[in-house]
Amino acid sequence: MNTPFNRKDIEGFQYQTLSKGRWANADLYLFRHDGVDWVVKDFMPCSPIVRVTWGWIMVRREFAALTKLQGIPGVPQEPFMLDGFALCYRFIEGKTLGDTGSEEIKEDFFLRLEDLVNRMHGLNLAHLDIRNRRNIIVDANGEPALLDFQNCVNLENTPWFLRNLFKEIDLSGVYKNWEKYKPESLDSVRKEKLDALNRKRAFWMFKGYPSWMKGDRRS
Ligand SMILES: Nc1ncnc2c1ncn2[C@@H]1O[C@H](COP(=O)(O)OP(=O)(O)OP(=O)(O)O)[C@@H](O)[C@H]1O
Ligand SMILES: [Mg+2]
Repeated sequence: MNTPFNRKDIEGFQYQTLSKGRWANADLYLFRHDGVDWVVKDFMPCSPIVRVTWGWIMVRREFAALTKLQGIPGVPQEPFMLDGFALCYRFIEGKTLGDTGSEEIKEDFFLRLEDLVNRMHGLNLAHLDIRNRRNIIVDANGEPALLDFQNCVNLENTPWFLRNLFKEIDLSGVYKNWEKYKPESLDSVRKEKLDALNRKRAFWMFKGYPSWMKGDRRS
């Protein structure tokens, strides 16, 4: 398959590191090719055993999700697999939500993020890591974008009793950040949904990995 560039093209070239992974995470680079900014999400720096198992699966899973979501504004565009261990897609100009102050966020930002999440659910995908503010971008026009679909699930293959829970988990990620950044505009219906989810959260298993399991980022 024809791809805009291959691993040989990036080797030896200057690229900016966006994020260093931990033992089971990719490194992410910003690579400019023919005047276009691409992200390379690369599991090659992981240990060989992690790379050929977890990394191999994660790259395919994220690629499949991004392919399904093409056309929805607010997800990384033009995904392709560099090889078995790295995924590429277009860079989104902006800042992560975690690096953005509430005064920089437009009043309807979270409404738009909620809409983006609902559109994603309409395509039968749940993200499951929207609470993480590094996975949300405030783009150069102040619009929301979602990143990091490697943990997403296909709701078509999910038992019915988990489908709604997974959707609620995503929306609670939106409302949690909404409450943090724009509490005055979070209405009582959404707040009640968030509180209900937080009560359930005390019992559920999808609370993320404990920090001792995550390990340190590569230097
Ligand atoms: N398309 C993109 N446009 C702009 N920045 C991006 C893009 N993709 C990734 N990034 C940057 O790289 C960071 C890590 O990306 P991602 O969340 O996909 O990887 P990760 O392995 O899950 O890392 P983390 O554990 O930090 O969440 C993001 O927080 C963001 O700063
Ligand atoms: Mg992430």
